[in-house]
Amino acid sequence: MSEEQKANHSLKSLDINGVAEYIKSGRAKKIVLMTGAGISCGAGIPDFRSIGTGLYSQLEKYHLPEPTDVFTLTYFDKNPEPFFDLVGSLLPGTAKPTAVHYFAKILFDKGLLVRQFTQNIDGLERAAGIPPDHLVECHGNFFTAHCRKCNAEYSLDSIRQELTTGNVLHCKKDQCDGVVKPDIVFFGENLPPSFRERSREDLPKADLLIIMGTSLKVYPFAGLTSLVQEDVPRVLINKDKVAVYKEEIEVIDGVEYKIQPKNPRALLKYDHPSNTRDVFLGGDCQETVKQLVELIGWKSELDALINSSE
Ligand code: OAD
Repeated sequence: MSEEQKANHSLKSLDINGVAEYIKSGRAKKIVLMTGAGISCGAGIPDFRSIGTGLYSQLEKYHLPEPTDVFTLTYFDKNPEPFFDLVGSLLPGTAKPTAVHYFAKILFDKGLLVRQFTQNIDGLERAAGIPPDHLVECHGNFFTAHCRKCNAEYSLDSIRQELTTGNVLHCKKDQCDGVVKPDIVFFGENLPPSFRERSREDLPKADLLIIMGTSLKVYPFAGLTSLVQEDVPRVLINKDKVAVYKEEIEVIDGVEYKIQPKNPRALLKYDHPSNTRDVFLGGDCQETVKQLVELIGWKSELDALINSSE
């Protein structure tokens, strides 16, 4: 990469003003978004891991060995009841897209959005108007379901009613009676092929990566951060500062050695002395995004989109 290209990617300051200026100046032309459950909290949908309010804090009554078992294939095949008890509350339905979802739509409308990689299964990206070819639903979606035994396909519309009863859904084809599982990706399942294809193509050519509302705990999604060029700004808009790059100090024979963390390229350097591009914007992502949009000069467009859904 030439010095000119590098300079073109550099933020004037590693804060919200630097990010806004980078976008406003037109230097960010190929933006990739990575999003997670935190962007939908403003729509009233709980995330997974926030202590007390997250979905995994509310699963005690099921006495699962691990809260994530509810979305784990081997557990589901043995004991699908907890998933079906819960699934009614997870279905895409009445919730409305938030300011963050509409920020993505503005980027798309302006031709700046290369792709939105989302972990969310609430369908709010589609509801905000992101077309399917600009979206990778990394953890699948509820719009189709398949029988675990005969692979018969069901549309959400055809099974929505039954999914709200709390009962395990059985296949109706030719006395199959297998369990029908919505096509959300469980632990132990592959991500959709588009994840691999799109991530290999999109991230290396991105000139800005914005990550919002995710704990960056679940791989391979969290590893996407490692795929952008080494000088490309990576901005985390999140309540918690996550995926922090931190070296361990090990003392051997009185000499201190710095040990690199695992996945060093995936981790964000924020306050590390060598940081030149990673930015953490804390607090509520809805407020941060509104502030960012205002600084860029897109407030009226965002307001119009929010008003259109009310
Ligand atoms: P998590 O629940 O793990 O993380 C949500 C993140 O959003 C946390 O870091 C919160 O601090 C942050 N957050 C919550 N509300 C926020 C707000 N209003 N503003 C800013 N930040 C906020 O959710 P994900 O990272 O999306 O996978 O979870 C990843 C995957 O784990 C899910 O897709 C799901 C789950 O197990 C599967 O089911 C396969």
